[in-house]
Amino acid sequence: MTKTIRKIGVMTSGGDSPGMNAAIRAVFKTCSAYQITCMGIHRGYKGMIENDIFEMQPKDVKQIIHLGGTILLSERCKEFREFEGRKKAYENLKSHDIEALVVIGGDGTFTGAKIFEEEFGMPTIGLPGTIDNDIFGTDNTIGYDTAMNTVIEAVDKIRDTATSHQRLFFVEVMGRDAGFIALNTGIASGAIEILIPEKRYDMEEFYKNIATGAERGKISHIVIVAEGEKSTNIYDLAKHTQERFPTYEIRISILGHMQRGGSPTCSDRVLASRLGVAAIDGLLEGKSSVMAGIKANNVLYTPFEEAIKKHNELDAHLIKTAQILA
Ligand code: F6P
Repeated sequence: MTKTIRKIGVMTSGGDSPGMNAAIRAVFKTCSAYQITCMGIHRGYKGMIENDIFEMQPKDVKQIIHLGGTILLSERCKEFREFEGRKKAYENLKSHDIEALVVIGGDGTFTGAKIFEEEFGMPTIGLPGTIDNDIFGTDNTIGYDTAMNTVIEAVDKIRDTATSHQRLFFVEVMGRDAGFIALNTGIASGAIEILIPEKRYDMEEFYKNIATGAERGKISHIVIVAEGEKSTNIYDLAKHTQERFPTYEIRISILGHMQRGGSPTCSDRVLASRLGVAAIDGLLEGKSSVMAGIKANNVLYTPFEEAIKKHNELDAHLIKTAQILA
């Protein structure tokens, strides 16, 4: 530890994800262990601009490790994109004597933090909180594992109806730009096809797979479609598939925001807890404008610049596995 920090601010921003509360708790408790005052900032950058800042107490983090959502609330904030907004935010932080920040969120959150640090020199460490797993510099983002388990539970239930009624279901899962949730849950739920944004599809190949499945006696089908799939959209996909297979009963199920909620899995709670400790350790070591992540079970710090711009590639073996098992 090289630096003395007396007060830090912590906030969550962007889309919520299960495990954010576990991360807030870990940040607070690590601060307490090091005699640092921890200030909670409500509603992300919006709360920073509107001075919605309070001194956190032990009671604030009691019984929250198992809760989904974020006790600090979250918002997307247009005003922080403007210099005037950021200046106001800085003045508010200074009025509370906040010397450093921990921001929990996704790439939008880190983009804001990077600019803020460049303009005002506020030391900041980010923690990857998003279900999409689309952040470079960590194997898993906080919330990703829980979201995948939520999807699996939902698809298992949909499969009951699919089988009973001999239907083909297109199930849309979240992932604006990334197919991590779709690929993994597709494998885990035995989907016949998995459509992801990272891959272009030959629709003839897609129809052929469905037809082959039926020839082999398959009476129901689950197709997992990532929300960000670019070749088509789920409604057109269902429409065209219906034209191709007029006798099939086709249904669409969009899982939506249920994937963002719920109690975090053990894995997300541990990840969030470790990263909360790593955030404060990193700040005390003088690190700034970096994201704390865990790769191959090691804590590491990745510059915001890289975390935002670079992308984790989908594992080639996972793609091969999905193809073989479909
Ligand atoms: O958190 C990321 C994400 O889950 C994306 O997959 C999705 O597109 C987006 O959030 C939707 O967020 P909202 O409806 O809150 O804007």
